[in-house]
Amino acid sequence: MSVPATLAELDAAHVIHPHAVVGAPAAPVIWARGRGATLWDIDGKEYIDGTCGLWQCAVGHGRPELARVAAEQIERLEFYASFWNFANEPSIRLAARLAELSPAGLDRVFFTNGGSEGIETAIKLVRLAWHVQGRPERNVILSRKSAYHGVGVASLAATGIPPLKEGFGPLAPGFVHLSTPTRRADADALVAELRATIDELGAETIAAFVGEPVMGVGGMIPPPDGYWPQVQAVLREHGILLILDEIVTGYGRTGRWFGAQRYDLDADVIVTAKALTSGYIPMGAVFVHDRLVELLAGTAFRHGFTYNGHPVGSAVALANLEIIEREGLVERAASVGARMLERLRAVDGRGHPFGRLTLSISSFVPKPWTPFQWAPFAGAGALAAKLDTIKRGVGGMATVRVLHENPREAALQALLARGDRRVGDFLEGAARLGGDWRRALREWDGDLEFHTTRVRGLDERLPWDHFDVGVKKTGLLREWERAQLDEATPLAVSG
Ligand SMILES: Cc1ncc(COP(=O)(O)O)c(C=O)c1O
Repeated sequence: MSVPATLAELDAAHVIHPHAVVGAPAAPVIWARGRGATLWDIDGKEYIDGTCGLWQCAVGHGRPELARVAAEQIERLEFYASFWNFANEPSIRLAARLAELSPAGLDRVFFTNGGSEGIETAIKLVRLAWHVQGRPERNVILSRKSAYHGVGVASLAATGIPPLKEGFGPLAPGFVHLSTPTRRADADALVAELRATIDELGAETIAAFVGEPVMGVGGMIPPPDGYWPQVQAVLREHGILLILDEIVTGYGRTGRWFGAQRYDLDADVIVTAKALTSGYIPMGAVFVHDRLVELLAGTAFRHGFTYNGHPVGSAVALANLEIIEREGLVERAASVGARMLERLRAVDGRGHPFGRLTLSISSFVPKPWTPFQWAPFAGAGALAAKLDTIKRGVGGMATVRVLHENPREAALQALLARGDRRVGDFLEGAARLGGDWRRALREWDGDLEFHTTRVRGLDERLPWDHFDVGVKKTGLLREWERAQLDEATPLAVSG
């Protein structure tokens, strides 16, 4: 009798994982179930989802309400295409709801199955618009180094992380990458570079600029002050369209429904996915401004994915948005995020090790380590959403991570977020050791354990080399969580 293969063996034999090495599979962590911010693997081990998966799960795992909505819709009508003049009620209602939430003028959406498809759609829309205006040469897309826009041949061309592109060529032509807008960069210099590039290429060759309000995959990079308004003004001046990639920032992460509102941007296209459905069903939505609709009026858009406007995805998206609204997650992300930031500022600049950490919504470890550059809206806002949902007892997604190699530092960050006294103890310990905080970390006996999946064989030049799935719950974290449940617990930073 043959021995039945384990799931791990079957996975190794039959599954090619994204961003893993073909033919050299790593032992999988096989998720069995999730509830709120907690996940369990098939061995029953419990984890905090410290990364919100891939930033998608805004309302937490295992919401029965979303399961019910999906089941009801499948029973009623699982799917029929939205091509031509076919439609279904949930996607019509979702489009109308999205128009209410979106910035002014962005009243129409084109549905997709995810982010990359949204960026492909946006690029085709803007190129087509100039084409039908009799300006087919106006097709260049400006992007940024370190940007991540997806994996299609155009969305990958827009991406500014070279190792991700190697070997896949030729990618779509017509993409130009400008400098990364790091927090430390000088906004004026970035804008001067943008102007110089436009002069060099000629505005009449440039269709659009694509950018993330806050760069995600490329290193959790909030833009320098004054960056976005100036960029928008220059684009306007030259008639260049603005595509905002809000695949990560959309639906509350920045403390506003959209990053566009956070930065007061008037985009021509906004691409969203992920938190639209909190990932319960793959779905994205591309918002198209009236200005672009006007340029395209009368033109056939010969583009569409089989599952456009999926009724089940749409029904789940509507229910997901309702949860975000009903539970006030966007507002709370803003208010608790601000409080978090204040606390973090209190410990920044004191010359202690936290000054070297990067608080981020990312799950990736950048190389080299970036200096302290928390995202005042993104990271803190995301943590705030987590704190809020934990307080409400409904579970949320901890999406704040320390971009650092040492898991103990990450554990300390969790305490820092809480303003835990032990952070002060640690710092005192480090001081006693003559400021040798690395040694202090080694000797620190915090009882958090980070689960890390190290991806072998990936390119040294990639901005990450491992992926922290979450924090295994141990006593200290449970205590931390309990403290969050107590509204009266002050978030006071010591140390
Ligand atoms: C900013 C950004 N754009 C595009 C994408 C691609 O989205 P997807 O993986 O759904 O195709 C991602 C994915 O993480 C992203 O973070």
